[in-house]
Amino acid sequence: MTAPAGETAIAAHDLYRFFRAGDEETLALRGISLSVAPGERLVVAGPSGSGKSTLLACLAGLDEPDGGSVWIAGARMSHRPEAERSALRASRVGVLYQQGNLLGHLTIAQNLQLVRRLGRRRRARANTGAAPTRTPWDVLDAVGLANRSGAYPAELSGGEAARAGLAVALANNPAVLIADEPTGELDSATERRLLALLGNLARAGTAMVIASHSPAVLRTADTALHLRDGSAVAA
Ligand SMILES: Nc1ncnc2c1ncn2[C@@H]1O[C@H](COP(=O)(O)OP(=O)(O)OP(=O)(O)O)[C@@H](O)[C@H]1O
Ligand SMILES: [Mg+2]
Repeated sequence: MTAPAGETAIAAHDLYRFFRAGDEETLALRGISLSVAPGERLVVAGPSGSGKSTLLACLAGLDEPDGGSVWIAGARMSHRPEAERSALRASRVGVLYQQGNLLGHLTIAQNLQLVRRLGRRRRARANTGAAPTRTPWDVLDAVGLANRSGAYPAELSGGEAARAGLAVALANNPAVLIADEPTGELDSATERRLLALLGNLARAGTAMVIASHSPAVLRTADTALHLRDGSAVAA
């Protein structure tokens, strides 16, 4: 999808992030800038430890950069209180972790309902964002899990769990999807299926930032960002 001129779903300007442990300091991000339009897929590639997860956490507002700024659909995500960041995240950003956004004691349908309820509360408090138009059942249908809605996460296969995680990330119709190694544990057929789903989302206008080691994921990128030691490098 081509975005109107000047429209940006995700923008980051000159991001820096360092971690200190005792005497040791790691510069995880060294001046990263990027911009992603609606419907565009940016894939972040690079060796282990190059800063991919750190970058995605800063974009999603789960972590604060030490320098620079992050903007989601024109609203500043960085350098504001956690409650405001989580409200912005609830209304505009879906986050997909490799293993981690499903609560084990809830069924898949209950996981989705919980995320929707939290989204509604935070939107009301922050007065931001439109209510989702898709129902939890539409979302489960879209990822091919309508018949597994009553299952608990432990009862799902790896591929089903990845798709359930995607359903949770999409529960509030986010304008922006941030996914860290979404296909890391999947066989190539299941990976292709998940990538096809992401392709549909992109065509519907969702902007995406995806960190991945997978060449198949990199091939779906509109834009690639290669990181090495926290800096952008040529491929
Ligand atoms: N909370 C933290 N405290 C200290 N150092 C950290 C922390 N988080 C990340 N780092 C360091 O920052 C650097 C970048 O880590 P990051 O997790 O972003 O890498 P990555 O590219 O996602 O790697 P992988 O491909 O293995 O997931 C690494 O050197 C890591 O050890
Ligand atoms: Mg990582």
